[in-house]
Amino acid sequence: MKIVFQLPVYFSLLVFVSCYGGNGYDPLENALKNQRSRASVLNHVSNEELTTELLNSPVYMSPQDGLKEVDKISSLPGEPAGTDFDQYSGYVTVDPNHGRALFYYLAESPVNSSTNPLVLWLNGGPGCSSFGNGAMMELGPFRVNSDNATLSRNKYAWNNVANVLFLESPAGVGFSYSNTSSDYETGDKQTAKDSYTFLINWLERFPEYKTRDFYITGESYAGHYVPQLAQLVLQNNKITNQTVINLKGIALGNAYVDHETGKTGMYDFFWTHTIISDEIHKGISSNCNFSEGATITDACIEYQYEAYAAKSNIYFYDIYAPLCSPFSNSAPSISGFDPCTENYILGYLNTPAVQHSLHAKPVQWESCNYLIGSNWKDMPLTVLPVIQELMASGISVWIYSGDTDGRVPVTASRYAINKLKTSVKIPWYPWMYQGEVGGYVVGYQNLTFVTIRGAGHFVPSYQPGRALAFFASFLKGKLPTYH
Ligand SMILES: *[C@@H]1O[C@H](CO)[C@@H](O)[C@H](O)[C@H]1NC(C)=O
Ligand SMILES: *[C@@H]1O[C@H](CO)[C@@H](O)[C@H](O)[C@H]1NC(C)=O
Ligand SMILES: *[C@@H]1O[C@H](CO)[C@@H](O)[C@H](O)[C@H]1NC(C)=O
Ligand SMILES: *[C@@H]1O[C@H](CO)[C@@H](O)[C@H](O)[C@H]1NC(C)=O
Ligand SMILES: *[C@@H]1O[C@H](CO)[C@@H](O)[C@H](O)[C@H]1NC(C)=O
Ligand SMILES: *[C@@H]1O[C@H](CO)[C@@H](O)[C@H](O)[C@H]1NC(C)=O
Repeated sequence: MKIVFQLPVYFSLLVFVSCYGGNGYDPLENALKNQRSRASVLNHVSNEELTTELLNSPVYMSPQDGLKEVDKISSLPGEPAGTDFDQYSGYVTVDPNHGRALFYYLAESPVNSSTNPLVLWLNGGPGCSSFGNGAMMELGPFRVNSDNATLSRNKYAWNNVANVLFLESPAGVGFSYSNTSSDYETGDKQTAKDSYTFLINWLERFPEYKTRDFYITGESYAGHYVPQLAQLVLQNNKITNQTVINLKGIALGNAYVDHETGKTGMYDFFWTHTIISDEIHKGISSNCNFSEGATITDACIEYQYEAYAAKSNIYFYDIYAPLCSPFSNSAPSISGFDPCTENYILGYLNTPAVQHSLHAKPVQWESCNYLIGSNWKDMPLTVLPVIQELMASGISVWIYSGDTDGRVPVTASRYAINKLKTSVKIPWYPWMYQGEVGGYVVGYQNLTFVTIRGAGHFVPSYQPGRALAFFASFLKGKLPTYH
């Protein structure tokens, strides 16, 4: 009986929830909920497990000669005149037996591309596209106009200061795919492994980047991907005779890095931002224990449902922004970001000519793949030990946060940083952008924390200028300035 009733619900979700937008889809909660229903996987996956597996399986490599030229984008449909940088996109096979290949998009810098660093950008979900979300909505060189057909230049694009590589990860996300459908049941471990294999092969295709300064950045659930991949790179740099990747640093934006602080940080943010009542907040704090190994009580689950219901239909990822609706043009967001942007991206990326120009396989492209998140296999409850290892390794570790995000809010990041037990070197100060406070900074030992004021979850969408200023500081290895 149950199955009969649940299937239609399930399939209607597939149709309606593929975007982050006003329909309330929450890819992170989707994955967490499915993890909870399979209690055995809610445990900690050790770092040793990952390393051991990798040491025992050689990294797949294949010849890449001539493929760079094939991947060059001559122009994107609807691109504005005067594009002054090179773009490439295509697939890198990471498993030939399964027929698994990851899709990338590279936007090189207009100026100094041959000396600017290489930056990998990863979106989270799990299951969300780095090209559609990261490049087309956040930090890439173009934004899709409301006709779904033409593009305009984003003057605050991050490729102004770096060569930015967007990777659709894992297989099943965006344009990345596998010919073996069981690969779509994946998790953190496989994602890290495939991303590493991608990098090693991609660097063969673009050998001019082999020794370039390299950074890994990302947001949300990429709070798992970025540290795990960085750890793998550092470990493999020591043990293989393959390419040594010149990893200089990582930056994590509104990142889900720790289950306990993610939960308490979110509900505390709800309460302090007048989204839930005193009673619900008290109900959660006195009935819920979100730490590893604790029992999740019925009362705790009930209060969390109440919190989600009390929140009602607001844009979770930027709590003061308008929803995409027929009225959204009459009430534009403070930042001027069009809340219907993801619909334009959906329309544009599903245009056959666009897919062709990107060298993508013809597919029904989605912003987030619901099934990938639902079937997520391994998800450690915390990656803080990995972050601590990276902090001690000498690479630069930055955590940044848009302070109007309700999903992985700034409170969650601050609680997580407390758990890292590092000490303050440069105390909290406001950083400035164009004569106004861009946000706040704390310099910790081996860690920098930066907020971006007035930005939601997708920081460069809502505060493009402040986001680029922060990003340029990160690459320079200098704290954003107070002046
Ligand atoms: C997947 O299968 C198609 C059709 O057989 C083939 O053209 C493609 O190369 C395969 N993909 C990979 C990564 O092997
Ligand atoms: C390009 O590099 C030169 C030399 O380092 C520097 O002076 C110049 O400001 C850079 N231009 C841009 C746009 O980054
Ligand atoms: C190093 O390269 C050799 C020869 O190509 C290979 O046999 C060996 O397995 C490699 N070692 C590692 C650790 O990858
Ligand atoms: C929460 O659960 C953990 C693990 O069972 C336990 O060690 C801790 O004492 C609990 N915290 C509270 C406040 O009960
Ligand atoms: C743009 O694409 C979206 C999503 O496919 C669609 O709902 C909308 O009608 C399209 N708009 C135009 C102007 O074609
Ligand atoms: C910072 O890094 C150094 C080594 O580079 C290490 O000895 C120290 O324990 C680290 N401290 C923290 C809090 O990460």
